[in-house]
Amino acid sequence: MDINSALQALRDPLGVPFFPWVFQLLMVLTFALHILFVNLVVGGLALAVYEHFKGGDFNLRLSKALAQVSTVNLSVAIVLGVAPLLFVQVIYDPFWYASNSLSAWWAMAFLLVIALGFLATYVFYLKRKKSPQGYGLFGVSGLVFVLCAGIIISALSVQALVPQKWLEWYSANGGLATTGTSLYHFEIGRFSHFIVPAFINIGIFMMLYAWYFRPRADADAAYLDWVGRSGAKMAKIAAMIQVVVGFWWLLTVPADLHFMRNPFLWIGASLGLLLLVGLMKAESAPDRYAIPMALLSFVAILGMGTAREALRMAYLGVFDYSIYTYPLNIDWGSTALFLVTFVMGLVVIAYPMTVAFKLGRGTLTES
Ligand code: HEM
Repeated sequence: MDINSALQALRDPLGVPFFPWVFQLLMVLTFALHILFVNLVVGGLALAVYEHFKGGDFNLRLSKALAQVSTVNLSVAIVLGVAPLLFVQVIYDPFWYASNSLSAWWAMAFLLVIALGFLATYVFYLKRKKSPQGYGLFGVSGLVFVLCAGIIISALSVQALVPQKWLEWYSANGGLATTGTSLYHFEIGRFSHFIVPAFINIGIFMMLYAWYFRPRADADAAYLDWVGRSGAKMAKIAAMIQVVVGFWWLLTVPADLHFMRNPFLWIGASLGLLLLVGLMKAESAPDRYAIPMALLSFVAILGMGTAREALRMAYLGVFDYSIYTYPLNIDWGSTALFLVTFVMGLVVIAYPMTVAFKLGRGTLTES
């Protein structure tokens, strides 16, 4: 049996319940949101720990704020991870399940690692004042656990792209490797490309922080100036590193995929470069650039997510595999239910978010 026939046989015989391109679009969008919050957690925790150990008035205030927001961002990152998880399981099921079965032990350990990361982050946030050095280690552990979770999910994602290797992994050493205890394929360049932006996005978050708290009557201008400027500077340096990391990863992508000629790659890369140019200007006026840079960064992440999906299609195109040929078995009921609950969810969440935004900023007025 050739690989394409095997992949077709692994597809859900019931087909997909709606047009695959709709799932693909939603997958890219929700992945972009997921990785944005992953970035905010990784960058936020790393900086919270750094400022915690460095000490000093401004540093400790920033560390506390970042530790607190990291607990929230971690919850949001996890919730937003579920959406692309569902979509990838619908349209790329042969790949996702094969990769997860090959490394089943790791797929299960992923959940434990996330839970430990969550716990450690909370202990760091709530207890760090009691014994600054001791509890600081919980912050370090939180960061390590979160990074481990990222490494596992990245390996599972990459293993899914190379079906030509599955048989070799499954039949290692002449026997059947059914324990699922091995992680087979991890690309440090690819992983770094998704994690280095943590420092771009937490830098932009700090610019937003300064912009957000500025109108409050009790705002400390000197502190906010420091936070905004440090954030803009960090974001700029991280964006420079990201350009280098991007090209480093690109050089490791197999040449026979002809990814260098893919327009989505260059659109994503151009958006990244545009962000770098914006960040170079932002240092002089972080408050003014905070919103435009946040928007531009999200667009760049969307571009990166689209390029990532184009790369997946290039990998799987080698086996003549396309999600667009997935048998279609349209289920209007479940699709309508999904869309209605999705829109209702957005409406329900919009009101408390607006009130919380105004309350925190001190701009809520009685009407
Ligand atoms: C908080 C710790 C987490 C970190 C650091 C993290 C990091 C990452 C990274 C770096 C990627 C890109 C992988 C690649 O393409 O090489 C990724 C993808 C993904 N993550 Fe997360 N993640 C975390 C938590 C989660 C959780 C809890 C879920 C699910 C509930 C999740 C679901 C996904 C999915 C579905 C993908 C895309 C898989 C694909 O398209 O092949 N992640 N994550």
